[in-house]
Amino acid sequence: MIHYGKQTVDESDVNAITKTLKSDFLTTGPEAKEFENRLAKRFGFKYVVVVSSGTAALHLSSMVLLDENDKVVTTPNSFLATSNSILYQQAKPVFIDICENGLVDLDLVEQRLKKNDIKALYAVTFSGLPFEDKRLRYLKQKYKIKILLDNSHYFGKDSGICDIATYSFHPVKHITTFEGGAIGTNNKSMYERLLLLRNHGISKDESMYPWEYKMNELGYNYRLSDVASAMGLNQLKRVDSFLTKRQEIALHYHQNLKKMTPLYAYSKNSSYHLFVVRYPFDTLDEKAKFFIEMYKKGVALQYHYIPINSQPYYKNIGYKCNKKDFPQTHRYYIEAFSLPIYPSLSKDEQNFVIKQLEERL
Ligand SMILES: Cc1ncc(COP(=O)(O)O)c(C=O)c1O
Repeated sequence: MIHYGKQTVDESDVNAITKTLKSDFLTTGPEAKEFENRLAKRFGFKYVVVVSSGTAALHLSSMVLLDENDKVVTTPNSFLATSNSILYQQAKPVFIDICENGLVDLDLVEQRLKKNDIKALYAVTFSGLPFEDKRLRYLKQKYKIKILLDNSHYFGKDSGICDIATYSFHPVKHITTFEGGAIGTNNKSMYERLLLLRNHGISKDESMYPWEYKMNELGYNYRLSDVASAMGLNQLKRVDSFLTKRQEIALHYHQNLKKMTPLYAYSKNSSYHLFVVRYPFDTLDEKAKFFIEMYKKGVALQYHYIPINSQPYYKNIGYKCNKKDFPQTHRYYIEAFSLPIYPSLSKDEQNFVIKQLEERL
């Protein structure tokens, strides 16, 4: 069965983990620190804090960015964790429709910002496609909002516009630490608070006694272990080849798919966590039938994402994903699906996927 995503793990990862298992530190120690330094260099942030998941990264970021009842514009087309992290903080997600490329529509975002009651924009670099810097900078300056980029799908350099960016190292992502995530920022005070919040809110700075630690704020245990960080460091050494492979697969799909339309023109800037295409299905049932037929042929397609504001929990707290306000999201849900893309997907497998899809559509 060919799935939409898969980790790339080799003997060198096993060796890196084994070495750390035999060292003095299993939980957060020198490997975690080194992983943070390398990620900061890679993404171009002054500070990086590694944490136990992408969800933990979003949760802690929301703790430093938001207060109760703050309104945050965000996308319905993401994994639940993006907007859940706003709810964790008793703040309010305000969902905005998406564009053709699957990313939140920044024109509609601007329309909503004109009411001047929005604290932040939580934007997702969906599928790996970055936003136009100019547009984000303009919105940030004109409307004095905070910007969080959920970069779980993007592995490129940060352009210095966002206040915080979050990353996920779940196995299907660009690099993996099994579960894991990171937060990048250039803001020193945010960074220092994130370090405290990651570790129960505990500080040793003001201790009078050798055994003493002080908890001034309610935090969590969101630390990333040294074993996981060793894995991350080793994966990071190979990430350029992983990204090149994803680019090559995306290009191959672009050149060979005839009946489906890729979500956007081939882009050298996309990290291609996902390769999403559209086909004009009339109904979700029709798409489901197609998924089942492809599954029987050995191709496990996926769909990203069920609109968050249509989830039962969100409906229960008053959200709606009606066709009038979210026409693009509705059409996208019926038409879009994700093809397999991961570094070890061979040319033969890519051609097999293309053949099965093209024959059936
Ligand atoms: C866009 C997005 N945000 C957040 C997350 C949550 O990351 P994690 O699974 O590491 O908690 C994911 C993971 O699937 C994601 O794709």
